[in-house]
Amino acid sequence: MIILGIETSCDETAAGVVKNGIDILSNVISSSLKYHRKFGGVVPEIAARHHVENIDNVINLSLHDAGIDIRDIDALAVTDGPGLMGALLTGISCAKSMSYCLNKPLIAVDHLKAHIYSAIMVKDGPKFPFIGLVISGGHTRLYLVEDFDKFKLLGDTVDDAVGEAYDKVAKILGLGYPGGPVIDALAKKGNIDAIRFTCKAVNNSLDFSFSGIKTAVLYYVNAHKAGLKAEGSRLKADIAASFQEAVLRVIVENSIKAIEKYNIKSFVVGGGVSANSRLRKMMQREAIYRNFKLYFPPFDLCSDNASMVAGLAYRLYKKGLRASLDITARI
Ligand code: KG4
Ligand code: ZN
Repeated sequence: MIILGIETSCDETAAGVVKNGIDILSNVISSSLKYHRKFGGVVPEIAARHHVENIDNVINLSLHDAGIDIRDIDALAVTDGPGLMGALLTGISCAKSMSYCLNKPLIAVDHLKAHIYSAIMVKDGPKFPFIGLVISGGHTRLYLVEDFDKFKLLGDTVDDAVGEAYDKVAKILGLGYPGGPVIDALAKKGNIDAIRFTCKAVNNSLDFSFSGIKTAVLYYVNAHKAGLKAEGSRLKADIAASFQEAVLRVIVENSIKAIEKYNIKSFVVGGGVSANSRLRKMMQREAIYRNFKLYFPPFDLCSDNASMVAGLAYRLYKKGLRASLDITARI
């Protein structure tokens, strides 16, 4: 079964063709990132306009790369949320029109669940139930995943998302946007124990809070301006390393708490921050020590893409799920 997936929830206009939920025939992504850089974050209106201007080409290219004709598609899949209203609506309108004109079923896919699916688009995926962690620019969530359509929310952020914290700290340090990849690289040159930044689970629950540590970094930077400017200073790298360590530690701690509470054998991570090299190392160590199976997405599926949408849609289709033509965006 061949599904064309469409993803326009944030700043990536993406289309992908996936066969039977795992074989990626094409994965086309056109990002408007460079237009947002000077604003230090995604500007919803710019993202929406980029989708409108590019969606046709992106879909055509995804069909071309897959070597198929539009009539070879068995179904359409689209991200219906969460995301930016104007951005989501472009993909949804496009998928609905195609579903209507081609007379093919439409499947609506949740962006966060698709991120988790991106790590398990393999033949021998984990058995249910497993713990799923979504760490992206907009979300930080822990789920107990009982089936492809049964996600129980265990933990969430009460303020900023973890990717957002990386982006804000990068801005404070003058490292540009997006901050995750730069901090990941810079932290390798710094000392994780140089500065004591704290980041704890909220009231010992599985919830997260990242706005406090961002403010702590801001105060630290303001108090150490001269040190940061000094020639040969490693302070910026030390701040990056100490910030990252504190943030990742709470993510790992809450994940382990969830794994132990539900006596889980598999742990699945998805979303932009899952590309982080330090987190991958920390989780791998835990997986060996605590004997659970660990699933991270390949690097090209960590950030927003439509293959994960088409992939999860296949599983939902098999469960009988279909979307009607009156669906709209869930922001
Ligand atoms: O999933 P994603 O592409 O978009 C959303 O759905 O939000 O995630 C983007 C986020 C950004 O905040 C970016 O800074 C972060 O993922 N990110 C990383 C890394 N690569 C991207 N964060 C930490 N380490 C990385 N290597
Ligand atoms: Zn995303």
